[in-house]
Amino acid sequence: MPQYQAVKGTRDIFPEEAARWKYVEGVVDALASLYGFSEIRIPVFEYTELFRRGIGSTTDIVGKEMFTFQPDPKGRSLTLRPEMTAGVMRAALQHNLLASAPVHKLYYTGELFRKERPQAGRQRQFSQFGAELLGVSSPAAVAEVITMMMEVFRSLGLQGLKLRINSLGDTDDRLRYRCALQDYFSPFHDILDDASKERLEKNPLRILDSKNPALQELIVGAPKLYDYLNPASVQDFEKVLYYLDERNIAYEIDYRLVRGLDYYCNTAFEVTSSELGAQDAIGGGGRYDGLARELGSSVDVAASGFAVGMERLLITMEKQGLFDALTPQCPLVYVVVQQQDLADHALQITCRLRNAAIKTEIDLAARSMKAQMREANRIKASYALFVGTTEKATGLYALKNLSTSEQTMLSLEALLEFLCEPTANGQLQS
Ligand code: HAM
Repeated sequence: MPQYQAVKGTRDIFPEEAARWKYVEGVVDALASLYGFSEIRIPVFEYTELFRRGIGSTTDIVGKEMFTFQPDPKGRSLTLRPEMTAGVMRAALQHNLLASAPVHKLYYTGELFRKERPQAGRQRQFSQFGAELLGVSSPAAVAEVITMMMEVFRSLGLQGLKLRINSLGDTDDRLRYRCALQDYFSPFHDILDDASKERLEKNPLRILDSKNPALQELIVGAPKLYDYLNPASVQDFEKVLYYLDERNIAYEIDYRLVRGLDYYCNTAFEVTSSELGAQDAIGGGGRYDGLARELGSSVDVAASGFAVGMERLLITMEKQGLFDALTPQCPLVYVVVQQQDLADHALQITCRLRNAAIKTEIDLAARSMKAQMREANRIKASYALFVGTTEKATGLYALKNLSTSEQTMLSLEALLEFLCEPTANGQLQS
């Protein structure tokens, strides 16, 4: 076994898989642009305090999962970003974005870091794409981010995903609910696990998020947040559902959905895939009007957004066979050198083809013709272009279609013209 292995919970992505990532990212880019979102790139680490304040100190992410380090004894504590939303809001506030335009629509793809126990679909370094709509507080804004997320799934051909949605109400609703939960769970204090006992004091909503099987029956019997919503919160939620109905986006109301981050208010949602096993959440999001104030802003910044886990999305797509029809990213032409004294001439032709934006590959190791043909087939080249003494003397080159074995002689000009045509991937024309 080699001396060095990738760290547990991280992984290498080789070219065939990288092409799948690019494909998904291309669909995300196109849809983001269609919906008017522009790309933002933010640093991979931030001051730890940003996440503590933004995500919430009683959440699992902040309590147990952050990769935190101190650059020097006097330096402020830093943390590798475990999610993007707090960083995007920090950037918007720092650069006073909302002063230039009242609404900002930003999207991103990037690497995140959480110290979770690695298992299928759960890594310590993973990737998300997501979008944040800043500056509007309305059901239409939440519906827009949900619609865009579902549209990405639809465009990629994903089937059988389940969208669960809930309302977490406003701050007052949650305060009243918090008291109701404390009243409900307190008599069961002795059977609560240590984490839930601590949550009972600090943030009882988090108990609903517990995965402890021994507590599930108790959690199912807990009061529902929905019963504590004021009429405006109910109306807000119903309007979001109205937009989803209108757009034929299927959902399930899940009154126990609280999500693992503390910044949400009103609508929160999560999408699960039955292909994923225990780690079945493929994406999630919601509205987070309180985050800006939590980060020290003197003005409110209404906001909503979502993020989707790339690895889980790719696992689901693979299981549903959605990559089978993708054309492999392969060189179109493989230049075959028949005699090695023509290698330089063959390299010149390769440069000419590449200068004309034709994907071209050539053997650089002076291998036999048989080995070159084997390589052309291995990399699934569409054509082999033979360079021999006759070709050099006559200026006519043999181009062989490797799927039909059809072969034709073409001058370099005719070759360039033919290969630049959109039909060049199909039948060889003589
Ligand atoms: P989140 O639910 O923590 O939300 O993460 C979103 C998605 O990231 C999850 O549904 C999952 O697919 C993926 N994910 C999370 N942790 C891991 C992991 N350890 N390994 C692999 N994939 C993982 C957020 O991060 C919020 N910032 C979403 C948001 C955006 N809310 C508003 N705007």
